[in-house]
Amino acid sequence: FQPADLSNIKIAITAGPTRESIDPVRYLTNHSSGKMGYAIAEAAAKRGAHVTLISGPVNLATPANVERVDTDSAEQMHQAAMDAATNHDIFISCAAVADFRPAEIATQKMKKKSGEDEMVLRLVKNPDIVASVAGLTEQRPFTVGFAAETQDVEQYARGKLSRKNLDLICANDVSQQGLGFNSDSNALHLYWPEGDKALPLASKHELGQQLISEIIDQFKAKQH
Ligand code: C5P
Repeated sequence: FQPADLSNIKIAITAGPTRESIDPVRYLTNHSSGKMGYAIAEAAAKRGAHVTLISGPVNLATPANVERVDTDSAEQMHQAAMDAATNHDIFISCAAVADFRPAEIATQKMKKKSGEDEMVLRLVKNPDIVASVAGLTEQRPFTVGFAAETQDVEQYARGKLSRKNLDLICANDVSQQGLGFNSDSNALHLYWPEGDKALPLASKHELGQQLISEIIDQFKAKQH
């Protein structure tokens, strides 16, 4: 049994990959399944929070009592996130946003040219969604980011925490087998300016519940 103790809290969560079109039939993406973000959304909704789930393209069912906003590219996700951010108390950026997108989207399917064994795709930087939200000067939500690292986890995670102006960052060591992308389980280490806490290996379902509890604790601590 879980109490519906978060009924006065609004939480926006981004989840899944983004899809960056190259031409009408091709795109760039990554291996994010969206499972972690969906588990967090489910855990928050079960405790009665009002949850907006800003989702990239994933193969997951929408959790009960969650309002889902479907997006495709990082630019679309950025727009949806900025629309939601100022009327939510907490923003959790779980999405694996593509850092770059093709500079141009070809309007017709790109053709192979005979005799050419190479092609160059020019990429431009995508907006940093979580940094845009954390940079709001009015109605800024408590902002939580993720960091997938393969080495020096604390150093890189704390670097992102301060550079992106986040309130909390959830780091996972993606070099460990069976964790992170596409897996059903994960282990996280949370860092905030004055402290840290390890959440050991557990199912994403279980971790989603623990994570919501920790985020709510830090959110409330910051209110005071
Ligand atoms: O810098 P890095 O991509 O490792 O940061 C990861 C965090 O930043 C995650 O919370 C991710 O959702 C967020 N992010 C974002 N927009 C981007 C890139 C990352 O919101 N363009």
